[in-house]
Amino acid sequence: MLRIGLLTSGGDCQALNATMRAIVKTIIYQSKEPVEIYGFLDGYQGLIYGRYKQMTWADFSGTLTQGGTILGTSRTPFKRIDIPEEDGVEKVPAMKQTYRKLHLDCLFMLGGNGSTKTANRLREEGLNIIALPKTIDNDTWGTDMTFGFPSAIDVATTYIDEIKTTASSHGRVFVIEIMGHKVGWIPLYAGVAGGADVILLPEIPYEMDNVIEAIERRDKSGGRFAIVAVAEGAISKQEAELPKKEYKKLVAKRKYSVAYEIADEIAKRTGREVRVGIPGHTQRGGAPDAQDRIFATQCGVEAAKACLNGKFGVMVAKVQDKMTLVPLKDVAGKLKYVDPKSDLVKEARYLGISFGDE
Ligand code: F6P
Repeated sequence: MLRIGLLTSGGDCQALNATMRAIVKTIIYQSKEPVEIYGFLDGYQGLIYGRYKQMTWADFSGTLTQGGTILGTSRTPFKRIDIPEEDGVEKVPAMKQTYRKLHLDCLFMLGGNGSTKTANRLREEGLNIIALPKTIDNDTWGTDMTFGFPSAIDVATTYIDEIKTTASSHGRVFVIEIMGHKVGWIPLYAGVAGGADVILLPEIPYEMDNVIEAIERRDKSGGRFAIVAVAEGAISKQEAELPKKEYKKLVAKRKYSVAYEIADEIAKRTGREVRVGIPGHTQRGGAPDAQDRIFATQCGVEAAKACLNGKFGVMVAKVQDKMTLVPLKDVAGKLKYVDPKSDLVKEARYLGISFGDE
């Protein structure tokens, strides 16, 4: 008997079910032994409290196109992993106990950075873990791509497209806030795909003077409207120079998100009519797009193969267009940032997109 567990952890995304479907399908088709499948509910919480359901192939049928996660998810911050739950339950021993009680051979963990840290901790504790790189943010170290990212770019791009028609009619400047607190992959890709005039990323601190100049340049060249794509974590040069603690305090004090501050400043300094648009969690919602379904399927198949071959303590990854396995201990919790010198940033600059830094 081969006994596997599945859990989805952290912020959800569109291709979680598609990934689990591929794991389960591959394991069932390829395993020489009968398979028992346990789905843990609401992420690590299910593993901690032994909340799970036994599942069959039928539970995953039809889920290729279904967004969200049929298991539910939650955030279990790694920094609190050794702090008992409010009811006194100690998380790591409890998770080990559930795993052992069910005689699991492998636990598949679909999660992003924080979740891989916990997975790595469980690996250190002797559990057989295979991680799969989930996040719309595309910020997982060790893989060129994460599932959820392609669909999120599509949502954010469509949002920009749709704003453009109304922005054009009214001759307005739109500041569009796109997900990404620490990294700016979605705003960069959606900004380029949506034809933004200015893209502000956490990795490239901006100067307001440069943003204003870019908007005025567009105005002078005959553009009736302007689109400023702003990451949730866009940061000015002055803010970037603050000690981390000070910056965190400043962010915590904000009544509204950064997009509103930037919009106010643009309105004040240009006299233009400015509006803010925030696609928010729709970027994680809906069905996975075709590219996501394919990548999710690849991840699921590779993870299942790793399990059948007894390769544990790894994360499935795509590196230079090849699927591979990377040691969990090398990638856990590391962030993959946008390189300000990357080709896409340079290409965007060539066509006149401003990143507000020069
Ligand atoms: O990590 C995914 C993500 O959607 C980020 O892009 C975003 O900053 C954050 O989660 C939002 O978190 P929550 O769903 O807890 O509001």
